[in-house]
Amino acid sequence: MIELQNLTKRFETPKGTFHALDQVSLSIEDGDIFGIIGISGAGKSTLIRCINLLERPEAGKILIDGNDITQYSERQLRTLRRNIGMVFQQFHLLMQLTILENVMLPMQIAGVPKANQRKKALELLELVGLLEQKDKYPAQLSGGQQQRVSIARALANDPKVLLCDEPTSALDPLTTSSVLHLLKDIHEKLGVTIVIITHQIEVVQKICNRMAVIDHAVIAEQGDVQTIFQNPQAQITKQLLGRVSWHV
Ligand SMILES: Nc1ncnc2c1ncn2[C@@H]1O[C@H](COP(=O)(O)OP(=O)(O)OP(=O)(O)O)[C@@H](O)[C@H]1O
Ligand SMILES: [Mg+2]
Repeated sequence: MIELQNLTKRFETPKGTFHALDQVSLSIEDGDIFGIIGISGAGKSTLIRCINLLERPEAGKILIDGNDITQYSERQLRTLRRNIGMVFQQFHLLMQLTILENVMLPMQIAGVPKANQRKKALELLELVGLLEQKDKYPAQLSGGQQQRVSIARALANDPKVLLCDEPTSALDPLTTSSVLHLLKDIHEKLGVTIVIITHQIEVVQKICNRMAVIDHAVIAEQGDVQTIFQNPQAQITKQLLGRVSWHV
């Protein structure tokens, strides 16, 4: 279980202090597919980057299975990050490595023996439907295929949690659908908890069981997807659901 308690993140800018997260509290249960939705600049990426401390909040606690990771040493953090896979909008694959080598890389960094790296990477490429492309380079694949590789790579060290920052925002609607299908499939087969950031309400609707809405650095609303879709409370949620005009 991941619990964020009163997270505050500020950035110093030439124009003064900017609050990217303001007293953000959230709880994500094991096995959730948890959607975090908000418009551009709301603080979504900052929030997801706090979950593995790529971004360090000035105040608040991040409890993972009851342990406050803001108190972890660098060494403990390295171990923790191995248990948390990350998927990005722009894939972030290494272009000079083959697909297979890209998926092996996190295992290489973790010190897994070479033969095991290869075996596991081949299994993962099969899981994401790209086994036959294993010797190609990322530039030879479509965007949707590259995102599949980056999902396979994120699963390389058997993480318990997969953090996805706008995984489908660079993809067309059909490819989006197939990547969401894949994430759901992985959730069912591997039982990983998935946190997915998006500005697309369809993404939440299609695969999430729980959700939070973030607006100008604060959580506007959180709960079961069905409940929120049936009876949205916050104005921003109603806007995202298309129930009211943006220009009221
Ligand atoms: N390193 C930084 N320095 C200064 N301001 C920052 C920094 N990182 C983010 N911000 C600001 O914090 C706010 C939230 O940024 P964040 O990237 O979390 O938004 P987002 O919801 O992910 O937006 P998008 O949908 O465009 O990706 C933005 O206004 C952004 O300009
Ligand atoms: Mg973002």
